[in-house]
Amino acid sequence: MAEMKKLLRSLNGETLDVPPIWMMRQAGRYLPEYRATREKAGDFLSLCYTPELAAEVTLQPIRRYGFDAAILFADILLIPDALGAEVGFVKGEGPKLSTVTSDADFAKLGDPGDIHGTLSPVYETLRILKRELPSETALIGFAGAPWTVATYMIAGHGTPDQGPAHKLKDENRGLFEQLMLRLTAATIEYLSAQVEAGAEVIKLFDSWAGSLEGADFAAYSLAPIRAITRALHDRHPGIPVIAFPRGTSPENYVNFAKNSGVQAVAIDEHADAGWAARELQPLVCVQGNLAPGHMVTGGQALVDDVRRIRSAFSGGPHIFNLGHGITPDADPENVALMIETLRETL
Ligand code: CP3
Repeated sequence: MAEMKKLLRSLNGETLDVPPIWMMRQAGRYLPEYRATREKAGDFLSLCYTPELAAEVTLQPIRRYGFDAAILFADILLIPDALGAEVGFVKGEGPKLSTVTSDADFAKLGDPGDIHGTLSPVYETLRILKRELPSETALIGFAGAPWTVATYMIAGHGTPDQGPAHKLKDENRGLFEQLMLRLTAATIEYLSAQVEAGAEVIKLFDSWAGSLEGADFAAYSLAPIRAITRALHDRHPGIPVIAFPRGTSPENYVNFAKNSGVQAVAIDEHADAGWAARELQPLVCVQGNLAPGHMVTGGQALVDDVRRIRSAFSGGPHIFNLGHGITPDADPENVALMIETLRETL
């Protein structure tokens, strides 16, 4: 039997001497080859929906760095697009969407079962990747968690404090919960199709979980992720799930690790590695948590922090990653330095 891929071994609970590594936003604007392909595609959504180009940008960081995993090139806002919201990416401004703030807006959204027409190019991208990836590289599919996707659908754009989504939740909870249920159902359909097309691991991005407090965190971050994870496990026994409830409190991270059913919890750079090794690693594999700023500044501080994090998590299952996505101003040389440092013999 072929040796199991490193990422899958960590997700299986194994403690490895050198942990597997990949990077959030590893295909992106810091790479000149990404910018060239992006130019060819025209707009960002065309890049996501052209399987040959989306597969090409997925493979670029694998060729350059030999990461242990490739993450499908797509975006969390493809689900709103497939549900019939208008979605566009404006250069320098980020995403712009039609908003959902009334029953009439909600009534215009499509059914979860109808998303596959729009999303079929994404499944084709996965099939291409399955053929073209090196045999040791794991293939990660992903979606946004319902809360994070809802924050964009309600506001119509990114927001620093998710104010519009909190307002709808507090003033029209019925509508807010209908939207959350629609997103949960659509996400199950989408991720299940991704697994059928070749994804070996699923990641759920709850990038704005940090603004949900107390009972809201349990109801709108943890519960939908648990529902998605359960449905995926029912349909595809053994499929590992990584979830990223970014910016939540230590107490919520522990509750999440105990009760979400996921195989790995990704932590942001603000979570203390020693704490996470003690409190989370006995429960789940932990992914993280190098500060993305090191990819801009590099040097000895980068080397020291890579060693510190590797050592903090050396007693349990760990996936090395950043605490959030790499930024466009990062230096590709610093990514190489991170990987070299991680893989050195100590
Ligand atoms: O390499 C990978 O990580 C895979 C592809 C990927 C993208 N977005 C490509 C992308 C993934 C996994 C995402 C997830 C995503 N998208 C999240 C969750 C993760 C996180 O960073 O918190 C969120 C919140 C989005 C929504 C989104 N997409 C925003 C807010 C923006 C604009 C802001 C920005 O960074 O420009 C995008 C656009 C986007 N998605 C880009 C990329 C490479 C840049 C678009 C470009 O090339 O112009």
